[in-house]
Amino acid sequence: MRGLLLAISTLTVLISPGYGQFPGSPVSDYRSGLFVQNPCVSKQTCSECLQTPTCAWCMKEDYTSLDGAPLPRCNQETHFSAQSSSRVQCPIDEVVNPNNVFRVIQNIDLQRASQYHEAVQVQPQHVSLKMRVNEAHNLDFFYEQAQDYPVDLYYLMDLSKSMEDDKEKLSKLGDLLAATMQNITSNFKLGFGSFVDKVVMPYVSTVPKKLEEPCDGCAAPYGYKHHMRLSTDTSTFSGEVKRAQVSGNLDAPEGGFDAIMQAIVCKNEIGWRDKARKLLVFSTDAGFHYAGDGKLGGIVKPNDGFCHLDSKGTYTHSTLQDYPSVSQINHKVKENSVNVIFAVTEEQFDVYNMLQANIEGSSAGTLSADSSNIVELVKAQYQAITSSIEMKDNATGSVRVTYYSSCVGDGPVRQTNKCSGLRVGSRVQFTAKIEVVKCPKDPREWRQKFQIYPVGINESVLVDLEMMCQCECEQPGNPGYMENAPQCSGHGTYMCGICQCPTDFFGRRCECDRENLGFHGDLEAGCRPDNTTTTLCNNRGDCICGKCECYPRENPDEIVSGDYCECDNFSCDRYDGLLCSGPEHGYSACECRATNETCITPYGEHINKLCSGHGSCSCGECKCFETEEGQFSGRFCEECPTCPGKCEELTPCVQCLQFQSGTLADKEDEFGVDLCDKCPFDVIEVEKAEDYVRDDERLCTFIDDDDCRATFVYGYHNSTGQLMVWVQTTKECPVVVDVMGIILGVIGAIVAVGLLLILMWKVFTTIHDRREFARFEKERAMAKWDAGENPIFKSATSTYKNPTYNGKM
Ligand SMILES: *[C@@H]1O[C@H](CO)[C@@H](O)[C@H](O)[C@H]1NC(C)=O
Ligand SMILES: *[C@@H]1O[C@H](CO)[C@@H](O)[C@H](O)[C@H]1NC(C)=O
Ligand SMILES: *[C@@H]1O[C@H](CO)[C@@H](O)[C@H](O)[C@H]1NC(C)=O
Ligand SMILES: *[C@@H]1O[C@H](CO)[C@@H](O)[C@H](O)[C@H]1NC(C)=O
Ligand SMILES: *[C@@H]1O[C@H](CO)[C@@H](O)[C@H](O)[C@H]1NC(C)=O
Ligand SMILES: *[C@@H]1O[C@H](CO)[C@@H](O)[C@H](O)[C@H]1NC(C)=O
Ligand SMILES: *[C@@H]1O[C@H](CO)[C@@H](O)[C@H](O)[C@H]1NC(C)=O
Repeated sequence: MRGLLLAISTLTVLISPGYGQFPGSPVSDYRSGLFVQNPCVSKQTCSECLQTPTCAWCMKEDYTSLDGAPLPRCNQETHFSAQSSSRVQCPIDEVVNPNNVFRVIQNIDLQRASQYHEAVQVQPQHVSLKMRVNEAHNLDFFYEQAQDYPVDLYYLMDLSKSMEDDKEKLSKLGDLLAATMQNITSNFKLGFGSFVDKVVMPYVSTVPKKLEEPCDGCAAPYGYKHHMRLSTDTSTFSGEVKRAQVSGNLDAPEGGFDAIMQAIVCKNEIGWRDKARKLLVFSTDAGFHYAGDGKLGGIVKPNDGFCHLDSKGTYTHSTLQDYPSVSQINHKVKENSVNVIFAVTEEQFDVYNMLQANIEGSSAGTLSADSSNIVELVKAQYQAITSSIEMKDNATGSVRVTYYSSCVGDGPVRQTNKCSGLRVGSRVQFTAKIEVVKCPKDPREWRQKFQIYPVGINESVLVDLEMMCQCECEQPGNPGYMENAPQCSGHGTYMCGICQCPTDFFGRRCECDRENLGFHGDLEAGCRPDNTTTTLCNNRGDCICGKCECYPRENPDEIVSGDYCECDNFSCDRYDGLLCSGPEHGYSACECRATNETCITPYGEHINKLCSGHGSCSCGECKCFETEEGQFSGRFCEECPTCPGKCEELTPCVQCLQFQSGTLADKEDEFGVDLCDKCPFDVIEVEKAEDYVRDDERLCTFIDDDDCRATFVYGYHNSTGQLMVWVQTTKECPVVVDVMGIILGVIGAIVAVGLLLILMWKVFTTIHDRREFARFEKERAMAKWDAGENPIFKSATSTYKNPTYNGKM
């Protein structure tokens, strides 16, 4: 009921018109401060203040109220605005409240490439941003696919024996491939490289004769060879492809990853241009070796991701370093904005389709057995790649970037970093919402550069971000900053209106000298009301130079005062609508402490003692001491922490008075007086004892002779102090248990569990058998896949009926 009332009152506050004036923004009105926390006033330094949204700092030298009390320097920015004239003003030029500063540094219009300049597809290119924590900035930028954007296509081909016919076909189709791409962009370069595998056992036979000629009419095996540099002279492509000789190896997977890595990182050797769409077409009819496989051939050194090509374009570290991993490839692909197109035969498609999902900006297409569809495949993949765009960034964890766009105008603005259905010339507007989530601990990270880039394109919006985590007046060289300042008694650093003291000094103006004040041991003795407490200034102020300085309150109408900040003019009860003593008694004294009467224990063993001797009286209420044994409690601190309470003591009397049972019932003392009559109290019969537990009343229960649970409550009359006992007339008796039922139930349960276990075992073994069988089936299928070039499976190969493998290595 209480909770409901609270909920209703909160709701009333929320819908009251006063609140409605500030929709969505933190309420800065002091009167509402009772309900909404003002996060600013507790901030003690300018940088802390700056890092709190909507707060501003006053760096005025003496920022005090009219009677000289220091005011909170950090406050809601509206508090310092011109409108709030009722407050002590901080001149506007002394208010530290910087806004986000956004500046465009480079903003070249989107344009196509010409002989004078490169194409521009992202605008703006470079911006700078100064931001406060948690205050977002929306950065608008554009992407447009330029007409005639340069395209570099490097064709990387598996040249093991089985690809011989593909090679022939490609050399015939070379001109068509070039013509088709030139139809898309006039700025087209074509290059060519090939690979087989590492020349070590077990990938390649190292029998000397086989090393020279692994198969009839084959060239010696090699890892990766770069044949033709990217060039606009596409007519040499066909010749280069024709001239490249096929080779042979032993196992089915090939060393394509080595080739991809070199082809990407050897930027100069391959001839990749800085600003071009980079396509790497990878064509093969076999699987691939990856990191770890090198161990089979005794190669343990991991791939270093550097270029190792000699002057003839041969990969020199093929037998020295392991194959790269998928993530290494992905990393280099991202770093160099390359789009890999896997053009693979149908039976390999599933594997490469999975690989494609793990490499940014790559795709996979199905190659016909003799590569006759290569031109359509490349064209289709190119169009798929260029018709969609995805924005990414490399901002660190303390910066959050969220993207919004309506893409090609096909819907409302939504949160997305991907758009599809683009055509040459369609302009897409993105909005990047940039937020500093928190100030990094290391001040060097307060300035950082990050880029927002379209995947696969070497262009970006470079953002120079400066996080405003510190006030300018906290840095040397600013007017608000002075070392050994007179304001700080000549030995502190004055910054933003406050003093930062060296270790030997303390105080608001560094005026307290540890040595001279003789504060060697207890600096804080003057801030503690007595020896028994350890809390300083009642936790409502700072202990400065051995004296309490009470904290300012959020609400300026509330004043904390007293030597130990023990007094205030807001927390005690109102009398006739006035606070305690009322204004005629003056506000400077401690209104609440006028009398200790309400703290005097009216009853019990501690009668007439102040707070039962276990607490002190403060503002008319007992503050109970905390001792080694624990915290005293109760309105008059009468409950000691380890006391068992009076339940046990009272039980025999309650038993005999109410239920005529227990140790005292029907017994007499030596004078013949009924023991029950000697009980020092009367019981009050009630229906439900719990209802009588209000503040200090205690609930007791005991088990009576008939095994039933009885409940009573005791307490003291709040004015006379007389012991009062309320006894519940009804007892809770245990239900008689049906022994037979329990036994039968247990037996039944055991049987049921047994049956269930047997059933589960049956289900598990069935599933297990099915899985094993499925795996066996799959392995059989895999064996078929591998059998092509594994000598152990040679006999199987001869019975395999796939015409494309017929007679091939
Ligand atoms: C190039 O485009 C033109 C017109 O769009 C078309 O007629 C021609 O067949 C295309 N050539 C190639 C090689 O695709
Ligand atoms: C991207 O372009 C810049 C010049 O604008 C160039 O310095 C950089 O090397 C290029 N990056 C790649 C991976 O091509
Ligand atoms: C993001 O990438 C740019 C360009 O490569 C680099 O200058 C910047 O330092 C990177 N930023 C982060 C935070 O890694
Ligand atoms: C506080 O402690 C000092 C010595 O530790 C003692 O002399 C003094 O009487 C104590 N004061 C009170 C109020 O207990
Ligand atoms: C508390 O005291 C201050 C200063 O004396 C006064 O301005 C304020 O109105 C008082 N607050 C209340 C609630 O009476
Ligand atoms: C009230 O009690 C405190 C200790 O709790 C004592 O310091 C103070 O003098 C007492 N005031 C009066 C008016 O008795
Ligand atoms: C004593 O308790 C009754 C309710 O049990 C309450 O109405 C009354 O105000 C209390 N008196 C005092 C002095 O607290």
